[in-house]
Parts: sequence; structure tokens; C-alpha cells
Amino acid sequence: MKLLIKNGHLVDPENNLDEVLDILIEDTKISRVAPAITEDADEVIDAKDKIVMPGIVDMHVHLREPGREDKETIYTGTKAALKGGVTSVLAMPNTEPAIDSPENIRLLKDIIRHNAQIAVFICGAITKGRLGQELTDIALMKKEGILAISDDGFSVDSEKLFFEALKKARRHKVLVIAHCEDKALSKDGVVNLGFTSTRMGLRGISKESEYTRVKRDINLAEKAGCPIHIAHLSCKESVEIVASAKKRGLKVTCEVTPHHLSLTEEAVLGYDTNMKINPPLRSKEDVEAIKQGLALGVIDVIASDHAPHTESEKDIEFERAEFGVIGLETELAVAITELVLPGILTWKQLVEKFCLNPARILNINKGTLSVGADADVAIVDPKKTWKVVKEEIASKSKNSAFLERTLTGKLLYTIYAGRILYHG
Ligand code: DOR
Ligand code: ZN
Repeated sequence: MKLLIKNGHLVDPENNLDEVLDILIEDTKISRVAPAITEDADEVIDAKDKIVMPGIVDMHVHLREPGREDKETIYTGTKAALKGGVTSVLAMPNTEPAIDSPENIRLLKDIIRHNAQIAVFICGAITKGRLGQELTDIALMKKEGILAISDDGFSVDSEKLFFEALKKARRHKVLVIAHCEDKALSKDGVVNLGFTSTRMGLRGISKESEYTRVKRDINLAEKAGCPIHIAHLSCKESVEIVASAKKRGLKVTCEVTPHHLSLTEEAVLGYDTNMKINPPLRSKEDVEAIKQGLALGVIDVIASDHAPHTESEKDIEFERAEFGVIGLETELAVAITELVLPGILTWKQLVEKFCLNPARILNINKGTLSVGADADVAIVDPKKTWKVVKEEIASKSKNSAFLERTLTGKLLYTIYAGRILYHG
């Protein structure tokens, strides 16, 4: 099977490409990248005036299976991913049961083998049941194929335990992904502490609860000699702490979500529970610092933190609603609209954040259009605008922070392993 993509504007930072070129795909791999390829193919896509980029590697996704199939499944989540140009995801372990043992990993791998539409990589838990009490068997989980460990949703409060985890992760070459939140400080807050919490009469989550934990976790990683990746950072101070750690030469990477880079705490003033996220939406100053952090390369990755929740968990009083929003289908368009159009990031930088950097951090052979690479490709109309409407969401849950918003940048094709699996 030969698929030829002609006249597209290729963006592939790994090969320093940002120009009009053709791509030939043979079976599951990219076989040629060159101007004006004339070879016969079974199918030809004319990508004139379109961006041709590697499929997105989203390193922070909650697929909810096993256990919460009412929110999302491996099948529905990976279908939604295809609609957003995402061809690889890292599945977070806060499922029911948590992904905290070789048996549970084998169970998950079996579901993935049968139902996943794209590449699903697995993140194991740091502690058993994500309860922060007892370490999981990182060596055995690595043998079952996990790429990373995280108690996402929680931080590991015990310094001693987290330090042990870092040392073991280093030994077994597993990435540690830190959810940075000191619960003693954030307590039962629901929105950013300050102007919003006061105005809404709701309990606040301070920035301090995040950045003090960012600082602690980076210090422990340094002591353990282990790389660390900070999940979904949300405030200026966290960006500054990561910047200074990088300056000191530490192996620290971090990610931001599409919602934290584009929305401020004012979005929650209408008590819309689709704006209830942990960490919470912060101030304008924080969003500016995040944008600058992206532009300067302090923030390496954009990841969705796709967090599906049912209507009955979201369509209730603000204080009782679950934290989190879906993001797979909108992340690229949000980033084009908020970062590329205003000139904050170039296309090449954007593709680094969505494809190359997460693939490198996870140490997987993805995120590139190199000859010989897996033929995972997204073709995007960079100018087309579209409105996010509930009825068209592929994910099982509809809790998007961008409902009714008009975004620029529409997926035309998502190709996974050489096959067109989405055509918009
Ligand atoms: O808003 C969030 N939702 N933040 C998290 O850390 C976890 C996530 C979830 O799993 O729903
Ligand atoms: Zn998460």
C-alpha cells in the first residue's frame, strides 16, 4: 500500500524541515521525503496550503479504562484522539483499579491490543493504589512495558518515599512525572485563591501549593540524579523554578495544558463547572508567564490532560463537581489560535511542543517525519475556522472548556501507521 501526500507544507523540527515537500508512505512507514515525488501510489492526497506534521504525541491523557468506562474507554478516547491529530498517548494510571501492578498492566495491555485505534503507552502509578503509602514494583512494571510513573491527581507527600521512587526510576530508566500539589496548602479549594475565590465565595487553591512542590520535587530529583517531568504547571512561579533548574543544567522538563495557556480565572466567574480544573485556572499574569515560558523553551510540551467526566459529575454545584476537562479534539486548534496566530510560537516550535519533545522525553520513536519512521501524520488546514459544539465531540464525555468557541486550524487527515483513520 502506497500513500502519497503532495504539495504540503512539511513541519518536522527533527529534520529541520519547514517547507513544501512531498511524502511517500509505504505500508506503515515513511519511505521518502522530497520535492515533487512522481511515483505511482494507491492513494494521493493533495495537501496544497496545508500543514503536514507528525501525529501528536500527547503525554498526559486519562482514558479511564479499566473501571470508569462511563466516562471514556480506550476505544472512544483513541477515536477522539484521531479527530485531534493525536496518534500516540500516554495513559495515566488513575483508573479503577489503579495501574499499580504487573497484573493490572497486563489487563490494560489486553484492552489496548483489542480496542486502541492509535499507539497507547502506559504510565504506572508511583505508589500502590496511588495512596502515597507504599511504592509499586517499578522494576516489574518496567518489564511489562511502562514508560513512566506518576500518581497524577496526587503528589507523593512523603519526601522519603518520593526520593526512593526517583532512585528506583533512575535505575530502571523510567520517567517520573510529578503532579505538584501540597494538599496541606490546597486543602479543599476549588478555584484560584485571590480575586476569584473572594468574589465567588469559594475556597481557594494557592499558587504556593503548586510551586513549593515543584521546588521540592526538582530538589529531590537532583539529589537522586534522576530526570523529572513536571505535569500541568499553572503559574508564573513554577515556570521560574523550572527555568532556573534548567539553567543549572538539571534534567527537568515540563508541560502545560491548552486551557492553562489560554484561559484565566475569570472564566470560572459564571460558575461553569467545565472551567473547574486542578490545578485551577490562574491570573492573566500567570498565563502571560506560561506563554513566555513556551516561547523561550522553558516549557517543553503541550499536553491535553484530557480528563473526561460524566454529565452527572459535572452538571452539579461548582463545589461538588469533578476537576478536569477533555482536550484531545481541541488541543491543536487551541494552540494554533492562541500561540501561532499571535506570533508567540512558530509552527516549528509548535510541532516541537506537540510531537518531538514529548517523544524524546518518553524515549519513543515517534514525533518525526524522518524516512523510516512510523507513518503517523496529521494534515491540518491552518486557516480554517470551526466552532466547538457538543454534538460533534467524539469523546464519550463532553466536558470541554472550549464549548461554543470558534477556533482556527482544522484537522483534515489523521494517518496512523500508514492508514487514514480520520478524514475531516
Ligand atoms: O483536573 C484534573 N483532572 N486534574 C488532575 O490532576 C486529574 C484529572 C482527572 O483525572 O480527572
Ligand atoms: Zn492528569
